[in-house]
Amino acid sequence: MSKVVVLEGSPKKGGNTDLMAEAFAQAAEAAGHDVKVIPVGRMNIDGCRGCRACYKAGKPCVFGDQDEWNGIAPGILAADAIAFATPVYWFGWTAQAKAVLDRMFCFQPKGEEFQGKKAAFFSAAADGEDVFEAPKMVFEKSAALNGWEVIGEVCAASCGAHGSVRETDYLAQAAKVAERL
Ligand SMILES: Cc1cc2nc3c(=O)[nH]c(=O)nc-3n(C[C@H](O)[C@H](O)[C@H](O)COP(=O)(O)O)c2cc1C
Repeated sequence: MSKVVVLEGSPKKGGNTDLMAEAFAQAAEAAGHDVKVIPVGRMNIDGCRGCRACYKAGKPCVFGDQDEWNGIAPGILAADAIAFATPVYWFGWTAQAKAVLDRMFCFQPKGEEFQGKKAAFFSAAADGEDVFEAPKMVFEKSAALNGWEVIGEVCAASCGAHGSVRETDYLAQAAKVAERL
């Protein structure tokens, strides 16, 4: 059994990204994993200030008690697998999802504890496949830098309308990624 954290980065509950994250989470739970979905897109998490005081005051981030970061950081660090879910906003991640990835900079001094995780990526966008180029690159390069094993990427193209991913095969694809945990 693995500890799995799903970082759901859309501001819209019940939207396409949320549905993909849930499809993955439910499949992972059904397979016996310990899964926590964190709706980071609807939480109060600021961007990283780059002060490099990570863990120096005995907590993940010296500013992390001013928002919700220090509350969720230990669970992310302890996870065996992290799934990132974000809709495409202007060819990139949502500001909320990217803020969480940026704040994960604080885990770099943790070395091996932060490395060796499994990682998955889920995204949705209104337009075609090419809009996922930059969002996927951010995920893949971050995974490579941190020594994470990529277990799956599902990018739902042509899903602009709220909940339209339900009419596609992408939810089944997201669920299937859980088989690789
Ligand atoms: C601020 C904003 C920017 C967006 N930028 C893009 C974009 O660059 N390319 C695209 O194909 N869709 C874009 N979209 C559409 C969303 O990616 C799409 O509707 C997605 O399914 C929303 O996911 P959600 O339901 O999980 O929130 C944008 C939507 C918003 C609100």
